Amino acid sequence: MSEDLIIVSGGAPLEGTVNIAGAKNSVLKLMAASLLAPGLTTIENVPIISDVTLMGKVLSNLGAKVSFGDHRVAIDTAPVDSIEAPYELVAQMRASIAVLGPLIARFGRAHVAMPGGCQIGSRKLDMHIAGLEALGVSFDIAHGFIDASIPQGLIGAPVILEFPSVGATENLMMAAVLAQGTTIINNAAREPEIVDLANYLIAMGARIEGAGTPAISIEGVKELSPVASHTTVGDRIEAGTFLVAGVLGGGPVTVKGVDPSHLEMALTKLRAMGVQLEVGSDSITVSHSGAIKPVDIQTLPHPGFPTDLQAQFMVLDALADGRSVITENVFENRFMFADEIARMGAEIRIEGHFAFVTGVRQLSGAPVRSPDLRGGAALVLAGLVADGQTVVAGVEHIDRGYEHFVDKLASLGAQIKRAPSA
Ligand code: UD1
Repeated sequence: MSEDLIIVSGGAPLEGTVNIAGAKNSVLKLMAASLLAPGLTTIENVPIISDVTLMGKVLSNLGAKVSFGDHRVAIDTAPVDSIEAPYELVAQMRASIAVLGPLIARFGRAHVAMPGGCQIGSRKLDMHIAGLEALGVSFDIAHGFIDASIPQGLIGAPVILEFPSVGATENLMMAAVLAQGTTIINNAAREPEIVDLANYLIAMGARIEGAGTPAISIEGVKELSPVASHTTVGDRIEAGTFLVAGVLGGGPVTVKGVDPSHLEMALTKLRAMGVQLEVGSDSITVSHSGAIKPVDIQTLPHPGFPTDLQAQFMVLDALADGRSVITENVFENRFMFADEIARMGAEIRIEGHFAFVTGVRQLSGAPVRSPDLRGGAALVLAGLVADGQTVVAGVEHIDRGYEHFVDKLASLGAQIKRAPSA
């Protein structure tokens, strides 16, 4: 069967400006949150990526009317009459689990298949479940489905998360907004996408304080009303990916449409690598020449270094003048990318959650396969500077989260194209 490939010839200098799309990890949750209030909402700055299409299908399957326009989605949740998210959809995208909280809050019931998604560690749901149980939700998990109900109603409560899970924080927020009384989520995730979701919920009439801090306080309200229009926050991970491209291609490369404060730790690491940065109010420009300084990186929940930029930054360390250690603290199995880039001549030794990287002068182009979304993008980045041609398969992973990835890189001067396999 023919599949699309991304074919890159290394060595072209990169220069120019890239407009950053809305954040994948925000828009998927905003779409799920729209279920909380019956009626019509419009979300703007929506990236054109396959995960958004899939979330559209999850919502239409529940009965919502979903229509996509130019970087916009209109969702009418008034006709929603089902509480089921089927396996065929959820298995393709773990983020579908975000409908759990809203369905429970609006209908008192949810029947959601256990998710699949990127193969990057076991990605359990225990914190989602324990947190919702604290609010009075009762779960029956059988035959690959989560069946949730609220026998005594949804009641606000203090919850402490074992780890600041993004997904668990979001599901709890989306349930607590319609619970009776006050919920406090302690050790909450602080990602900018959590703040975006909180702002959307507040615009719906929710009472939330502290989003973006480790303690989010939510006072339940009786009902919410749909938000006429909400603009999705810029995608800091897409921006970080293009900044790495700019470093590899020399620059100057400017990313526009992102809040630089959302990338503080990544920018700190770029500076330590010797990269020149210019930071504007909604833009960042990188330029670089000469050797990259090796820099140790450890992934952590926000505001720590994002796990979603780990593979892209590993490309920089793989080409740096010396050794570095990359520590993955968020997902247990997120180094599959290292095996692929090793096929391009990178020297990386994995031990548990550590990657010991010895920089090499030059990578060599090779056929490689995307192991996951971010790893796939990182392989394309590696191809930008590898000697000869790199052919990246498994492009569907990249399509999940990057809008027009090939076109945007080509607009900077990359020698890159997308073509079906022979
Ligand atoms: C979200 C992002 C993903 C990002 C991740 C961490 C979306 C659609 N995806 O994923 O791109 O890499 O945040 O920034 O927004 N865990 C448990 N039990 C739980 C929940 C999580 O053990 O109930 C573990 C996971 O296996 C993982 C860690 O906690 O090891 C972090 O997961 P979490 O923050 O929940 O990530 P996601 O919301 O799945």
